[in-house]
Amino acid sequence: MGCSNGVALNQLLLVSLNLLHLARGRSEVYSGISKYSFPDDFIFGVATSAYQIEGAWNEEGKGESIFDTFIHLHPEYTPDHSNGDVAADSYHHYMDDIDLIKKLGVSHYRMSISWPRILPNGTANYINLQGVMHYRKLFVELLKANIIPVVTIYHWDIPTALEGLGLWKNTTLVDYLVDYARILFNLYGDLVKIWVTINEPDIVCADGIKFNKYLPEEATHGLNEYVCIHNMLLAHARVYRLYEKEFKPYQNGKLGLCLDVIWPEPKNPGNPEDLKAGEIYSRMRIGIYAHLIFSEDGDYPPFVRERVNSMSHKQGYLQSRLPYYTEEEVKALQGSADFLGINHYTSFLASQSSSDPSWAVPSMDQDTGVRLDKTKAWPRPGADWLSVYPPGMRKVLNWLQNNFKLLERIPIIITENGLSDFGQTADYERVSYYNDYLYQILLAIHEDGCNIKGYFAWSLLDTFEWNYGYTVTFGLFKVDFNSPNKTRTPKLSAYNYAKIVRTRRIDFDFIKAPVTYNIWQYLPYH
Ligand code: BGC
Repeated sequence: MGCSNGVALNQLLLVSLNLLHLARGRSEVYSGISKYSFPDDFIFGVATSAYQIEGAWNEEGKGESIFDTFIHLHPEYTPDHSNGDVAADSYHHYMDDIDLIKKLGVSHYRMSISWPRILPNGTANYINLQGVMHYRKLFVELLKANIIPVVTIYHWDIPTALEGLGLWKNTTLVDYLVDYARILFNLYGDLVKIWVTINEPDIVCADGIKFNKYLPEEATHGLNEYVCIHNMLLAHARVYRLYEKEFKPYQNGKLGLCLDVIWPEPKNPGNPEDLKAGEIYSRMRIGIYAHLIFSEDGDYPPFVRERVNSMSHKQGYLQSRLPYYTEEEVKALQGSADFLGINHYTSFLASQSSSDPSWAVPSMDQDTGVRLDKTKAWPRPGADWLSVYPPGMRKVLNWLQNNFKLLERIPIIITENGLSDFGQTADYERVSYYNDYLYQILLAIHEDGCNIKGYFAWSLLDTFEWNYGYTVTFGLFKVDFNSPNKTRTPKLSAYNYAKIVRTRRIDFDFIKAPVTYNIWQYLPYH
């Protein structure tokens, strides 16, 4: 596949063709121990986010986030009418969480800070000391347990106090995010050395608005989507440059961002139009972000700029719906990451189309002009959007590396990957999912030369899964949401992941059938 070279569109299409033998379902069934191992400097971790696990929504001075406010007003947002008011109650049970992380043997824990817990008004004029102390204690305890915190500054829970501004539609939010980040660097920079600025702009700006799926944002398709991307990426760059200038010289930390990336597999591999569709989708929906930061030229990719400009023109707009960065902003964005975090879960079948009943006009979907379909060939053991197609992981990693020169020196970290199901502890499908996706990462490292330095399983434990409530779960540990202490129980996938972490290889036969032996013997702590 060749991670290390830049490849033109037609070459990429050929590459896709060569890979078509991999394109069907769980392409290969492996057995035995993987022939490759994870390199010594490859890090393993688990991930969560504040709203999804903390609970304590109104305790110890915390302000409301837009999720608190929205879900209380609209309980019908989730099928089970649930919310994150209590969730796994990690605010009170964080020592239990640390114990689970130790049991897994991973070295890193990705978590997020709740913005309104630190700044109940969203702004720097009032800092909630109880919230501040909570995270300090958590970081100290993690470090005592030899676990390195990886901290997301913004994982969607914006303080409600800032909602009136219009959220990402307003550039003022950029300033407030920068103020909040500065406070975090001052408060925790001695303990936290790896920061993630923003989580998944595409979900927030495009998908979230489109389906009103994740975010209570008002939709103005095709305009808001790009304004949101524009402002959020600018916020990322400003936080990066702030840290670089004022904090990095003495705190020596690293800072990156997380992009959600799906793999668009050509629907009919024999149809050149479908081959093109996959490439167009990746350029529009991954390239739009990655080009700003990881390309040699900077700015929005010419492909995206031309497409949105010309669509805007045809639609009678006097200006492009895709805003322009100033020269200074282009420079601030370019190279503004010490790593690229990617959250990859699933793949879809891509084909070109000029219209679709589900697309608003105008919209990013319509500008992209690519339909995404599911296929019965790829299992969906939980949430309907999550199909299992492990080769998508390797393909997306290669696409990124092949298209963005700076990724030769700036590593990729998989900051989220995981499977949803309905909560069973005998989660054989999740075991296979992790084995197969991790194996694709091994192939990307060893056979394709991709620069991948870490992996975080989503999620440490069952969480509040946004618009699914608690009806599907992603945890390595099951949470009994009805028990007073939110009891945590390891699923089979926890044992399996712990073994991978310990041996740095995948044992495809480790958990394949009902387990009858004492599985704890395989864990580092028991
Ligand atoms: C998000 C998580 C979410 C996960 C599974 C990612 O998009 O960062 O918050 O729970 O996917 O849907």
